[in-house]
Amino acid sequence: MSDVQPVLAIVLAAGQGTRMKSATAKVLHTMCGRTLLGHVLAAVEPLGAAQTLVVLGHGREQVTEELAKTSPGAKPVVQAQQNGTGHAARLALKAAGDVDGAVVVVPGDTPLLTPETLHLLVQRHIDAKASATLLTARMPDPAGYGRIMRDGDGHVTAIVEERDADERVRQIDEVGTSIYVFDAAKLRQNLARITTDNAQGEEYLTDVVGLLVADGDVVASVVADDHRETLGINDRVQLATARHTMRDRIVEHWMRAGVTITDPETTWMGVRVQLEPDVTIHQNTQLHGRTTIRSGAVVGPDCTLTDTEVGAGATVVKSQCTGAEIGPGADVGPFSYLRPGTKLGARAKAGAFVEMKAAQVGDDSKVPHLSYVGDAEIGERSNIGAATVFVNYDGVDKHRTKIGDDARVGSDTMLVAPVEVGDGAYTAAGSVITEDVPPGAIGVARERQRNIEGWVERRRAGTKSAESARRARERNGDESATMDSDGKGEQGAGE
Ligand code: UD1
Ligand code: CA
Repeated sequence: MSDVQPVLAIVLAAGQGTRMKSATAKVLHTMCGRTLLGHVLAAVEPLGAAQTLVVLGHGREQVTEELAKTSPGAKPVVQAQQNGTGHAARLALKAAGDVDGAVVVVPGDTPLLTPETLHLLVQRHIDAKASATLLTARMPDPAGYGRIMRDGDGHVTAIVEERDADERVRQIDEVGTSIYVFDAAKLRQNLARITTDNAQGEEYLTDVVGLLVADGDVVASVVADDHRETLGINDRVQLATARHTMRDRIVEHWMRAGVTITDPETTWMGVRVQLEPDVTIHQNTQLHGRTTIRSGAVVGPDCTLTDTEVGAGATVVKSQCTGAEIGPGADVGPFSYLRPGTKLGARAKAGAFVEMKAAQVGDDSKVPHLSYVGDAEIGERSNIGAATVFVNYDGVDKHRTKIGDDARVGSDTMLVAPVEVGDGAYTAAGSVITEDVPPGAIGVARERQRNIEGWVERRRAGTKSAESARRARERNGDESATMDSDGKGEQGAGE
């Protein structure tokens, strides 16, 4: 890390970003869980600059709000009219007060820039005792960029903007990246000298370089190892390309940290995701927010997890989980939807087509099929039968349901909250439970079955059903098929 910390970092982000064609300020577009500006600030932060100022113009209300939320250490400086990069730097320097030392300048739309490259740049600046140090890049297609002019000894002499360049200069493929380190005093002096005498009628920060060279000041440079790091995002095609690059970096990082990723091409994850060694991620999986996955867990294929914690050895297949906590050895999916406040205990199960919200499921309890579990607390080792619904909403308010330990809720039970099923209690399949079931009891809340004998032959005469019914009756030698009778009594609880 660099010996000397910059006194100031300036992020230039007042430009409009017209080519995004968006109501959202360009630097607020996101990739891999951060805004473009957020990525730039994350690269700048490790430098430990005493102050970080972000020059804002277009969409400044939006950006200011975002800064306050996510990077309160970075202070906005308003550039009401975008009179050029030089003008922007001048406003920031003025806002910084009487600073003395190294000033880092970066654009707000270069999200792939790394802290390592910035450290290198600062280090070079210090070592060379330079007045300015530029990060340059060799671009496969330099069109649109300012070109780096060097003398016979290879020293930088100036940066010429494309619009002010002749054909010979346009052939140069080394470009300025808008990433610099300046000596504060030299920057201040020379920003006062630049003019708007150029094709765009703007104050160019790049002109400071030519002025310094003319004064015999030392201007150093570093050529970026990987030009992609310096790419600015101007439209959504470049945004998608950058997002891929960032995704590749993140995925590669985790594979090197011991995570098996079976299909990196279809795996996406944000910068705040945490994975332990020996996690396995299968294809088409997206991990967002502060998702954490512990050792031995298998996630995917086809999962989208946001702010979700997956315990050691758990399995999550084809499911969508947001704000959920999945215990060690628990089992989720396929086709589960776990919403905020879901907490599955150790070895618990949320099986196929199960939706949960604000639901605590105790250790070893299972909700294997086709159920909605909302606003619930389920104890340990309990089983919730298929197609059970926790009826939590009365149309106005939400209510909670409590299920004890070792309970057995029969299939197709409606648990009309607020309601409680005690430890070791059962409910009969198909029950609509509106009152508490005490520990050890079975709650039966459904009509008794009544069989009307001979109904099909009488009321559906001539159908295949009637024909089969007749044959069955004849086989059984049963002549009394025309009388009604009541059905049998209790059926056991579903599971
Ligand atoms: C600038 C450089 C060019 C370099 C290129 C790298 C100048 C004159 N040119 O050109 O040499 O190759 O970046 O991408 O500096 N901004 C403000 N206020 C302004 C104008 C711009 O804050 O008044 C911000 C923009 O939001 C952007 C950055 O400064 O983040 C660069 O501005 P932009 O207009 O993109 O400059 P380029 O023409 O790309
Ligand atoms: Ca640009």
